[in-house]
Amino acid sequence: MERTLIIAKPDAVQRGLIGEIISRLEQKGLKLVGMKMASLDEAMLRSHYAEHVDKDFYAGLEQFMKSSPVVLMAWEGFECVESVRNLVGATNPRQADPGSIRGDLAIGAGRNLIHASDSAATGQAEVASFFKEEELFSYDKSEYVHIYEDSERT
Ligand code: RTP
Ligand code: MG
Repeated sequence: MERTLIIAKPDAVQRGLIGEIISRLEQKGLKLVGMKMASLDEAMLRSHYAEHVDKDFYAGLEQFMKSSPVVLMAWEGFECVESVRNLVGATNPRQADPGSIRGDLAIGAGRNLIHASDSAATGQAEVASFFKEEELFSYDKSEYVHIYEDSERT
């Protein structure tokens, strides 16, 4: 089953929005398979944001991401990367659709509450880089029978 990495960023932790973020993903019908709090260091951030390390905004992004602990989550679901990116909304919260997490809850461009993997391959790789195998859980979720067609369940 497809996986995605969610990071509730320092602004979500500081603003008390961890529960709201979890709630929205739960209500969509996705399955939480791993969760922990962590302080991200420079090496982890440079690796996670490798595509952005040479950009002007990277220094500010790294400083912000180190400013408080974050909550790391692994979620599973059929084509969950697409579902979650739509739930999260556009990178700039002022352009994010109402109804999305960023569209409803954030304003500042560099304060967009949440990271979500941007492809199925990235989701697998990011979950593997932040979670050990024993920190990920496999379990039945009985409501899946009401959420997915037979061919979409594993
Ligand atoms: P994320 O990776 O955090 O889920 O966000 P995203 O895919 O929507 O956006 P991405 O382009 O990957 O950018 C990663 C994070 O860098 C910060 N950013 N700042 N000031 C800027 O122009 C700018 N552009 C990107 C944001 O925190 C963004 O989430
Ligand atoms: Mg991104």
